[in-house]
Amino acid sequence: MAVVTLDQITKQYGPTGPVVVDHVDIHIADGEFMVLLGPSGCGKSTTLRMIAGLEEISSGKLSIGNRVVNQVPAKDRDIAMVFQSYALYPHMSVAENLAFGLRRRKFAAAEVDRRVSEAASILGLTPLLERKPSALSGGQRQRVALGRAMVREPMVFLFDEPLSNLDAALRVNTRTEIIKQHKRLGSTMIYVTHDQVEAMTMGTRICVMNAGKVAQIGAPLDVYWEPADTFVARFLGSPPMNLASAMVASSATGHGARSASLESPLTRWSPAVLGSLIDKKITFGVRAEDLFMNKAALGSEPAGLVRGRVIAVEPLGAETLLLIEVEPGVEWTARLPRHVPVSTDEIVELYYPASAAFIFDATTGRAVIGEARRDPRQ
Ligand SMILES: Nc1ncnc2c1ncn2[C@@H]1O[C@H](COP(=O)(O)OP(=O)(O)OP(=O)(O)O)[C@@H](O)[C@H]1O
Ligand SMILES: [Mg+2]
Repeated sequence: MAVVTLDQITKQYGPTGPVVVDHVDIHIADGEFMVLLGPSGCGKSTTLRMIAGLEEISSGKLSIGNRVVNQVPAKDRDIAMVFQSYALYPHMSVAENLAFGLRRRKFAAAEVDRRVSEAASILGLTPLLERKPSALSGGQRQRVALGRAMVREPMVFLFDEPLSNLDAALRVNTRTEIIKQHKRLGSTMIYVTHDQVEAMTMGTRICVMNAGKVAQIGAPLDVYWEPADTFVARFLGSPPMNLASAMVASSATGHGARSASLESPLTRWSPAVLGSLIDKKITFGVRAEDLFMNKAALGSEPAGLVRGRVIAVEPLGAETLLLIEVEPGVEWTARLPRHVPVSTDEIVELYYPASAAFIFDATTGRAVIGEARRDPRQ
């Protein structure tokens, strides 16, 4: 087990090529499950491959345990990596696939047997040990790939989108399996995905990446409830956070955010913070699950409102998504209960608790820090 530290890690392909990982700082504690999350091309795999030793580090310092490993070859870093495409040896049985790496490293036969049977039993592969990969389901193959990494008993596990080839049900099962293994082994795990549900459910912390840079690092719910900027606010959450331009105004009842289509008290920010924003443009945000059709649902809480033209009503069974256009080209989505009695082109008003509002700098997109949003874990 080990601490992994990325200190200003940078990757540039060629002296004049693009910088695809840009001064990344991540400190991963011993036994932590760190998820690297971000859109395609943001540098997740490149970061992971530099940790693995499969890609040269252009600048910065990488430590595993107490050792700087920039110059240490992959095979001596004591890590195991599970890729999206987990090429098993087709002519070998499951048992042989699991044992192969250990045999090549000249482990004693008894030790190989012990580790293989232990991994097989943990992963539910014992009845399949004599099968060839061609006679396994996708999920079973994925478990063999995981087992192959587990038998190495490495200090650090690295995963690069290991579930993306699986169907939805298998993905959920295997996800649970990996979480169980993490609890059991207590190893440090670094897991790359662009799937926010995987990130939210698996990570002890999430590192959200955007265009080669770290956008935010934190516990899943902290990142969800306190996004550092509009990128994180939209990337985490499905549907993404609703955003619109507004102005900060002051009135007899306090400060508020206003635009042609919305009006909200701003209750989470101090008068000093809001004072500096008066008459300035901000980006205003509310999550889809915080929008309601009936103001009464909010009880005595101060409420904000947003007005828009209905674009679509999408009943999903358990809930209904209502899409409204709040200004030309700006769509908001509300997650509402099953029955939503409106039709397309109707103008509707939706309400939200003022405590559910977010504000961001209109230029940089950085969150304006206020009092913590209500803690959903209480
Ligand atoms: N050998 C290379 N030469 C130049 N650019 C490269 C090279 N390999 C990768 N890149 C670029 O580096 C960037 C980051 O790629 P990377 O594979 O790390 O992204 P990713 O976050 O893993 O994306 P995905 O979710 O699609 O796997 C991309 O823009 C990619 O085009
Ligand atoms: Mg990738």
